[in-house]
Amino acid sequence: MRRHPVFNENKLKLGTFCTNGRGTTHSLAPEANGLTWPLAVEVAREVDRAGYEAIVPFARWKGYVRGKPGHVSGDVLDPFTWAAAIAQATRQAGIFVTSHAPTIHPIVAAKQTATIDIISNGRLAINVVGGWNRPELEMFGAPLREHDQRYDYLAEWLHILKRLWNSADEFDHHGAFFDVAGGFSNPKPVQRPHPPIMNAGHSDRGMHFACEHADLCFIGLRGADPESIRGEIEKYKGAARDRFGRDVQVWAHTYVVQRDTQQEAEDYVRYYAVDCQDHESIDGLIGLSVPEVQNMPREAWEAMRNRYAAGYGGFPLVGTAEQIFRTLGMLSDAGLDGVLLTWIDFVDGAKRFNRDVLPLLEQAGLRKPFAGAS
Ligand SMILES: Cc1cc2nc3c(=O)[nH]c(=O)nc-3n(C[C@H](O)[C@H](O)[C@H](O)COP(=O)(O)O)c2cc1C
Repeated sequence: MRRHPVFNENKLKLGTFCTNGRGTTHSLAPEANGLTWPLAVEVAREVDRAGYEAIVPFARWKGYVRGKPGHVSGDVLDPFTWAAAIAQATRQAGIFVTSHAPTIHPIVAAKQTATIDIISNGRLAINVVGGWNRPELEMFGAPLREHDQRYDYLAEWLHILKRLWNSADEFDHHGAFFDVAGGFSNPKPVQRPHPPIMNAGHSDRGMHFACEHADLCFIGLRGADPESIRGEIEKYKGAARDRFGRDVQVWAHTYVVQRDTQQEAEDYVRYYAVDCQDHESIDGLIGLSVPEVQNMPREAWEAMRNRYAAGYGGFPLVGTAEQIFRTLGMLSDAGLDGVLLTWIDFVDGAKRFNRDVLPLLEQAGLRKPFAGAS
């Protein structure tokens, strides 16, 4: 059995997302997460003590608001150096890096990921992304590739990375995108055969890439009823099984608003995501995404506008602890393996969730009570 926490026996795995930036909300509410290192460490330790499997950063080189390069949407810490430090601050949780393949050579990625896997004693995983935010990639002097070619590039990048992680000998690689002469990297990662790989491909090509190469497919759930959600998840699991003979986990990201009553929770989302919406940020995000992301026309983005403001389009977990627990049970029954949780205020949100929702998940057998890191 592979040793990374994402391969443990818990039926519903838990993680956090985007604590290397200001989280996933696009809100001007004063209580929205700031970008501070103490906050990132406090959240990481809170969820590490509770037995979460994943702490996942995102990768962003430039914010969304054209003409305002200093806009807060670009305030995001580098995922690799951030992950190395979070690894040192925690004991059990899986630590992810998110890597834009076009911005980093696989030899550099092999060395950095092995380093973090050693620092964390085998807790590293890598989320590989091909990039979609054109202005941030153009800063590197290379235009964003045609959509499907981004995944051809990513496949070759990953192929080289895996060889570097595993090969005891030097190797030559001559492909469509890379020429590597005498490729080699030591030390190797702690994990065998390699650290887990995550990908969030959404288009048909992206989905097939994830199903062929990733251990964890990371998706944005769109449906609301159990049957359509089951279909979204099974689309990935079925493609992995039928086309590639593989089992993959499917994870989704969520935003959580937990209050004593349903009404209070809904009122609070409306306050921070609608009344206090950062319109500049959402307009910028939609404007950049429409031409780049397949199967998502402008109307679909506009229909999801408030959900993007509330939590980057994540699945809503809004209500009482009991209601959130029941929704998580529904997602698990539909086949979901893991959720990444986000809150407008991570410290407050994670504490509430761990106090009130986690025990319900444990009582229901969706998670084993966490005994603590040895
Ligand atoms: C949950 C989730 C997280 C993502 N995180 C990042 C990220 O950190 N950086 C990034 O550039 N793209 C990120 N993406 C974008 C995906 O990598 C991908 O570009 C997008 O889903 C479009 O899919 P497609 O390339 O198959 O059209 C994320 C997507 C999803 C659904």
